[in-house]
Order: sequence, then C-alpha cells, then structure tokens
Amino acid sequence: MLLSLPDLLSPEQTRECRTALEQASWVDGRETAGHVAVGVKNNQQLPLDDPLARQLGQVILQALSRNPLFMAAALPQRILPPRFNRYEGGGNYGFHIDNSIFQVPGDTQRIRSDISTTVFLSDPDEYEGGELIIQDTYGEQRVKLPAGHAIVYPGTSLHRVTPVTRGVRYGSFFWTQSLVRDNERRALLLSQDVAIQRLIQAGADPETVAQLTGVYHNLLRMWSEL
Ligand code: NI
Repeated sequence: MLLSLPDLLSPEQTRECRTALEQASWVDGRETAGHVAVGVKNNQQLPLDDPLARQLGQVILQALSRNPLFMAAALPQRILPPRFNRYEGGGNYGFHIDNSIFQVPGDTQRIRSDISTTVFLSDPDEYEGGELIIQDTYGEQRVKLPAGHAIVYPGTSLHRVTPVTRGVRYGSFFWTQSLVRDNERRALLLSQDVAIQRLIQAGADPETVAQLTGVYHNLLRMWSEL
C-alpha cells in the first residue's frame, strides 16, 4: 500500500530544512549503502552523526507524531532517525530493496524496516527527473510530490530514483518498525479505522461503533508484536 501524507511539514518547516540543507556538508551516499546497493547508489547524503541531521530529523519526527494518518497507517513502534539525501547532475539510485534490519546509531537497539518513508524537500518544478519509482502489487508507481509532502510504502518494495538531469532534489528518508509487521494486516486495520471514523462523523449508532472499535482492537491485539 502506498500512502501519501500531504503537508506533513508546514511551508515554514520545509523552508527551514531547505535553507539548512543548502549549506550542509554532504558526503558520498555510497558510504552508508549495503554491499548490493552500493553498486547502484549515486547520490549524496548527510553523515549519520551530523548534528544537522539530528536536528532536522527531530522536526520530521515531531510532525509524524502529530499526523493521524501516519499514526493510523504505520502503527509505529520505533522509527529510525531520519536521513537526508541530495541528487544532482544525473544522480540516481538504481533498483534495490532496502536493508531489513538497521542498527540505531549510538544505541544497542535494532529496527526492522517494515515501512519506508520519503519526505520531499524540493518542489517538482525545481528539478527534472528524480522520480521515486516503486514496484508494488499493482505495478509501477511513479512518485514526485510537492515539498513538505511524504510518501509511505512497504519496506518490502523494490524501488529506485530516476536520474536528476536538472536542478537539485533534496529529500529525507527513514524506516519504521510497525507494531504489525504484515503489510496486508496493516492495510486492513487502516481500512477499518477509517471506516469507524466515518461512521462516528455520520452519527452512527454508538453501540455499533463500540462493537466495531472492539473488533479493531482485538485484531490489533492479535497481530501486534511489542
Ligand atoms: Ni531505498
């Protein structure tokens, strides 16, 4: 399931990120790639221990925690600190699947990458190319969103970024370990959650709403891992 989060960041937050990233110290993205991805990765990245990455990452994590759609869709248990990348001059990232397990920097904790998220930090008219192509069960999806918007997709998906042939594309990306590992179960829970919210808004019978809400929680209890 692909899900876009419109206006995850406010225009002010997006501008703040952009201004900081334009002056940041970028390094070759291959330094953080796994041994297979390294052959297809051609971009720049902020070092994982860069204080700027931590500071801007906090802005994104706070925005996520206030985003009901992300919370309902991802059912996050742990989120890896957001990373930042930059593509220009033909920079691209060939087809790959992200690593399944990530070590949390400076921590003994590990995170299973159930869900991938990309936050677009450049507007589509600022660069040519740079589309995120995701292969999912419904075929190939091409994603290029306004700055401040995000796309959420299963960590199991094959994906790539097409060459940026003009301008610069800035973005943030990170992985979430969900309470519910299975993509289809998570999609069912989201669908039920959305339907319950609609029933409440339509003034549906409270007992029926309570019963459906109970089913939601019982499924979550059955499927979640802590
Ligand atoms: Ni990737």
